[in-house]
Amino acid sequence: MTSLLRRRARADTATTSVITMVDAGLTYPNGKVALADVNVTIPAGDFVFLVGPSGAGKSTFIRLLIRELVATHGRVQVAGRDLGRLRRGQVPGLRRRIGIVFQDFRLLPNKTVWENVGFALEVTGAPSGLIRQRVPQLLSLVGLQEHANHLPTQLSGGEQQRTAIARALVHDPAILIADEPTGNLDPVTSWEIIQLLIQINELGTTVLMATHNQEIVNAMRRRVLALEGGTLVRDEAGAAYEREY
Ligand SMILES: Nc1ncnc2c1ncn2[C@@H]1O[C@H](COP(=O)(O)OP(=O)(O)O)[C@@H](O)[C@H]1O
Ligand SMILES: [Mg+2]
Repeated sequence: MTSLLRRRARADTATTSVITMVDAGLTYPNGKVALADVNVTIPAGDFVFLVGPSGAGKSTFIRLLIRELVATHGRVQVAGRDLGRLRRGQVPGLRRRIGIVFQDFRLLPNKTVWENVGFALEVTGAPSGLIRQRVPQLLSLVGLQEHANHLPTQLSGGEQQRTAIARALVHDPAILIADEPTGNLDPVTSWEIIQLLIQINELGTTVLMATHNQEIVNAMRRRVLALEGGTLVRDEAGAAYEREY
């Protein structure tokens, strides 16, 4: 599995920041200030929870990172690119460095598990030989070999999310971003998804997960970024969901 998600060189993991925000802010066109003055650095290899109540700005934070939105204030840098200076033609290259999964899975309903994963490679022009080699590796990583030929409607929620995770990893991204990935899943399935994200992180991929699942955050004791009303109110290593002091 180490060859699948390339273990990143030690120097890379120790020194490179995958995400940097400097005084970053996002005001929506209607005047709503969704994020203000966010300063954060996430080094390669980190596992980070992004927490906060509904409306706190978690999804906006993520939309800035994948450049669905451009910061209206300050600077956002991802995988070595200043997103404010990125030209339109450079956005696909950025997106290949980022894997993303959502609460609602967003699978293609008429394609099988195998095809959902393979299609993500196909659209970037990957040769069919590479696709045939890579898809089974990814399905094995997420434990879905037996479900390769199933359609999304034939899968449980957890299996659908595993498919989405496999798809997010097709380009061996520097970072995997998950926006409330367990929001539609029962507690046991949620834990299985977390274990998978931890495994992926241990193989060298930086993971950022937005969640308001307190139980999971409290049990994992990872770095926690807490947003409240668009402000980053806490950035703490080995932390709980709520401030403990
Ligand atoms: N397109 C938009 N236009 C205006 N306001 C928005 C838009 N999207 C989100 N918001 C507002 O920005 C704030 C942050 O939203 P969001 O980032 O989705 O929070 P979270 O993911 O933490 O629930 C909320 O008050 C939300 O209503
Ligand atoms: Mg959200």
